[in-house]
Formats: sequence, structure tokens, C-alpha cells
Amino acid sequence: MNKKNLSISVLFLAAAILLISALHFFTPVESLVFHQIYQRLYYIPIILSALWYGWRGGLGAAILASLSYLPHIALHWQHQNYDYALNQYAEIALFFVIGAVTGWLGDQKRRESERAERINNELQTAYAELRQTVGQLLQAERLSSLAEIASGVVHEIRNPLGAIKGAVEILEDELAKDSPRREFAQIAKTEVERIDKLVQEFFHFARAKEPNLQPTDVNETIRAVKLLVESQAAAQTIEISEELAENLPPVRLDAEQIKQVLLNLAINALQVMPEGGALVFRTFLKDNKLYIETEDTGGGIDEAVKAKIFDPFFTTKDKGLGLGLSVVYKIVSQHNGQIDISDTSKGTKFSLTFII
Ligand SMILES: Nc1ncnc2c1ncn2[C@@H]1O[C@H](COP(=O)(O)OP(=O)(O)OP(=O)(O)O)[C@@H](O)[C@H]1O
Ligand SMILES: [Mg+2]
Repeated sequence: MNKKNLSISVLFLAAAILLISALHFFTPVESLVFHQIYQRLYYIPIILSALWYGWRGGLGAAILASLSYLPHIALHWQHQNYDYALNQYAEIALFFVIGAVTGWLGDQKRRESERAERINNELQTAYAELRQTVGQLLQAERLSSLAEIASGVVHEIRNPLGAIKGAVEILEDELAKDSPRREFAQIAKTEVERIDKLVQEFFHFARAKEPNLQPTDVNETIRAVKLLVESQAAAQTIEISEELAENLPPVRLDAEQIKQVLLNLAINALQVMPEGGALVFRTFLKDNKLYIETEDTGGGIDEAVKAKIFDPFFTTKDKGLGLGLSVVYKIVSQHNGQIDISDTSKGTKFSLTFII
């Protein structure tokens, strides 16, 4: 109950009690039946007060009722009808008993329902955590099967590539030194090498490379990333700003990998703001955790896209590979960190959390 409601209901209860006492005062003693009714009316505010405010409320209302009722008994009944006066004193004693007992029962009930609500909240939190963990496990599963497939595919591709390169070299040897066909052989070799490099890179991505944890100045890493995307941002009239916590302690992270993570997030942000906008990099410490955030004004992400956003090869772009965020996810998980996406009024916020 808020303060305003509390004072209104206390005033209401006090007014009810005083009104009943006034009725006693202004009703002639000859109308005994009315007095008998009034003295029982006190139970209504006493019980209400006990139910609303517990035993203290019950006793408080009983005290007010007796204080305002006693003078009437003493002045009007004590000398005229002693037996009835005694009956009224007994009623007053009963006010206290009823106020205290009802209040105590009310307190019990309130405690029970608070306990039930607390348990319910704890269950809901546990359920949400469980769902998140299951989601992370599924994601890890998808990534590790991708790594397996990738290493198989890479192996299968690199072997014939080696053979092709060797065969081209043999053919090249057979050509005369000044043969114009040597150029074709050269092209074939360069292209084979290019494919080989591409495949190797893909393999590096897929293979879980353990992070090399070193004390890292995260703000410095962010500034390095900012430097890399600044000119592209300027070309798109995107304003990049920093809200970096001062005196951040060095955090054990793989600076290169975190740079890769932030670069991917920043590039995605730039790609969703072709007409300009704002990108914020943020760092802060909270509850022994380091938070690194990027926030864009790119219009947000549909729920359907969000559900698949970390899947390898999921993209909504014509020329996207759909690998950026799955790399981000993998690196963050390997740091035992967490990544969360939330909507902002104009776009999306990616929050990375690392325990320090
Ligand atoms: N900041 C963002 N705002 C809106 N949508 C986003 C944002 N970041 C990512 N997305 C969506 O998530 C999808 C997946 O992103 P991800 O970085 O994994 O792949 P990509 O950017 O499409 O391709 P790649 O990064 O491999 O070049 C994107 O295609 C885009 O639809
Ligand atoms: Mg991307």
C-alpha cells in the first residue's frame, strides 16, 4: 500500500470509530437497543484495521475505540445502569482480543502469501536461467558440429588443391620459357593458392581457438576498433561516441579476439545505418562484472531474426556470409562471457558481460 492510500484508510477507520462514539454520546440512554447495536459496530473498523495492518492495526483500532467509548460509559452509564456498564467494559476487553487475534491471523496469511510469491519469483528466475542455458548449449552444439564439418571439408578440399597445384607446375615446366601459356599456368597457381588460403581461414574460424588471456585495457581495445571503423562511419555520416568507464582495471581477456568481436558488432551496426545514425561504445563495471556494449540507431532487429542471429551462415544480407555473429558468440563463450541483445528506442544494444 502506498503512503497516500495508507493515510486515507487510517483516516477512514479513525473517522468510523469516532462516528460510532458520537452516536453513543448523542443517543439518549433510554434507547438501550441502539446502544447495544452501536457497541458492536466498533468491530467493523477493528477487524478491518487488523486485516489491513496486522496485530498492531487491530490493537491500535481497539485502543482508539476504547478511548473514545470509555468516557461515554463512565459519564452516562456508570451511575444509572451499573450492570450494563460492566457489560460494556467486558465488550471493550473483547475489542482488544478480537483486534489482536484477527491481526495475528492476518499477519500469518500475509506471510504465507509473501512466501508463495517469493517462491514463485525464484522459480521463474530459475526457469529463465535454465532456458538461457539450454539455448547456449544448443548454440555450442551447432558451432561444434560446424567445426567438425568444416575440418572434414577443409581436408577434402586442400588435398586435391595440392594435387592441382603440383600438376600445374609439371605442365608449366613442360612449356617453353617464352610461351604465352605460362601466364595461364601462373593464373591457375595464384587462384589455387587463393582458394587454399580462404579454406584455411575458414578452418581457423571453425576450429575452437582457445583465447590467450592477458591483462587487457578494454578501453584501449575499443579505441583501436573505433579507429578502424571511423573513416567508414564518417563516409556514412554516422557519429561514433564513447562512454567508457574511467579507471577500468586490466581484465584478463584475449585482446585480439575481443577486438574481432567489437569489430564485427561495429561493422554490423554500420551496415544497418546506411543513411547515417549513431554508434556508441560503452564500458562499465557492475556486480564484479565487466560490461562492454555497442548501441546503434539502425532500427532494431525482428524477433524472427533474433532467434537465429547467432547461427552460422544466417544472414539477411545479399553479400553477407552470416558468420560475423557466430564468431562473436564463440569468442564470448570461450571467455565464459555472455552476450545479450536488447531493443532501444531507435535500434539495438549488444551487451557483453565478463566476470572479472
Ligand atoms: N546491429 C544490428 N542491427 C540489425 N540487424 C543486425 C545487427 N547485427 C546483426 N544483424 C542481423 O543479424 C544477421 C547476422 O549477422 P552476422 O554478423 O552474423 O552476419 P552478416 O553480417 O549478415 O554477415 P557477415 O558478418 O558474415 O558478413 C545480419 O544479417 C542482420 O540481419
Ligand atoms: Mg556481420
